[in-house]
Amino acid sequence: MSILKSLLHGRPNGLRARLFGKPAPSSSAPRAPEASFETGEKALGLRKEAPKDVTPPDGFEVVLHKDALPDGQIIEVIMGGTSVAVARVDGVHYAIANTCAHAGGPLGDGKLAGSTVTCPYHGWKYDVTTGRCLTDTSASVKTFPVRIVGDAVCVQL
Ligand code: FES
Repeated sequence: MSILKSLLHGRPNGLRARLFGKPAPSSSAPRAPEASFETGEKALGLRKEAPKDVTPPDGFEVVLHKDALPDGQIIEVIMGGTSVAVARVDGVHYAIANTCAHAGGPLGDGKLAGSTVTCPYHGWKYDVTTGRCLTDTSASVKTFPVRIVGDAVCVQL
């Protein structure tokens, strides 16, 4: 099965549900095991599809077209059941865990300003380039390696 045909689902009350006015599929709905950009692309009104002819490096998965995510945007992607927030800052993509260290808020639904994402739940701030929390310096979120291969953004869990 092509990873490019797999689906990405958001939370029922997440950004996609808010933008499109319909709930995301329930957690019992079948989900593709690999990453996809499709839902995230629609959520941001993007048009670039992830390249279908890219073979990601070992351990990486194609998550987006390299031009699909504008600078200053952050979205959630699901990779093998793991929720990851992918951000673009000054043309560079970063991937961090999508779960806020405070109370599990979805960082991919947060607001990105420069390299700082603000959690939509209670406002904790994180540097997406390092995963370090700027609100509570003892906290952080995991970062994931990102590589650009051809036109594809590839992330390694
Ligand atoms: S859950 Fe993120 S700030 Fe509270």
